[in-house]
Amino acid sequence: MSRTFKIAVLPGDGIGPEVMQEALKVLDVIAAKADVKFEFNHQLVGGAAIDEKGKALPAETVAACEASDAILFGSVGGPKWEKLPPNEQPERGALLPLRKHFGLFANLRPGICYPALTSSSPVRADLVEGGFDVLCVRELTGGLYFGQPKSRTTLPDGDIEVIDTMVYKKSEIERIGHVAFKAAQGRSKRLTSVDKANVLTNSVLWRETMVEVSKQYPDVKLDHLYVDNAAMQLIKAPRSFDVMVTENLFGDILSDEMAMIAGSLGMLASASLGKPKGDGLYFGLFEPSGGTAPDIAGMGIANPIAQILSTALLLRFALGLEKEAQSIEAAVKQAIEDGLRTGDIFTNAPGTRKVNTAEMGAAIIERLK
Ligand code: IPM
Ligand code: MG
Repeated sequence: MSRTFKIAVLPGDGIGPEVMQEALKVLDVIAAKADVKFEFNHQLVGGAAIDEKGKALPAETVAACEASDAILFGSVGGPKWEKLPPNEQPERGALLPLRKHFGLFANLRPGICYPALTSSSPVRADLVEGGFDVLCVRELTGGLYFGQPKSRTTLPDGDIEVIDTMVYKKSEIERIGHVAFKAAQGRSKRLTSVDKANVLTNSVLWRETMVEVSKQYPDVKLDHLYVDNAAMQLIKAPRSFDVMVTENLFGDILSDEMAMIAGSLGMLASASLGKPKGDGLYFGLFEPSGGTAPDIAGMGIANPIAQILSTALLLRFALGLEKEAQSIEAAVKQAIEDGLRTGDIFTNAPGTRKVNTAEMGAAIIERLK
């Protein structure tokens, strides 16, 4: 008897719906191949939900996520909603509350530069030759994003004062530390912790805690970098990294940098996971790390690879379909090796061909079948 999995599908705004369409086609192929069934529960989120329902995260969207095995998320936000009060905007009104509501503290972002794609990287060819594979483990529910107080006040003299607060509990640093060390154990057993311990009290505790947690993983070699240095080393020597662990805001910034050096933000998948459920699987939200790309939304030319690779992560972490996840990853790699390029990764290199969203989706599916 084939198993049925429930997936909440939240395409969101901008290029979200276009790239989501390709990911769902991939899941249809997987269902046929692996004898599993997917029940998709489509829901509004972000700007699309504001337009239809008056709020970025309607109660029925949350309820649908709660009733599912995983959330497949597109992206939210855009110029149309930027004038709303900050807490009502798509990002702060939907994505961050979803992460918090489901306790999705561990954000895994695999920055993979395929050897065939090094010419798409904006850094010097000799620095990325042969490609690289870095895993960024970003803490996702703490730090400046959520810390209180957060305020904007007009002072008596007319000046304006704003406050964001960086807060971490030791227990929060420990749990993301364990995720990162375990990931490193499954790879080359090297972990780089990124902080700003020369300035921030937060980072001093971060570093102390990583050193403490490391005692439970004697096979993993831990080192530390200040975030400014890490930003530089990522460009200068991306291959010197294997697994990197860092707090919320640093991880937001470094993961975009990592993705760009790997070729394009349109290639960066992500898994946002909570505590393991006991069966070794996780409830999670799976989303491309790039944004809604309003400049190209609706044109059918966005790169669907980040969404498709996020779907592979969903199969791996939320459903335990490891073999199927690998088959998607292999099909993506093959499409790249065969020279297919959406606009964001097209460089006119010999043997490559520019394709649109649907053509890239179809090429991946052809290699998956
Ligand atoms: C990301 C995004 C989000 C973040 C935004 C949209 C709130 O940039 O997932 O990296 O900052 O976490
Ligand atoms: Mg980001």
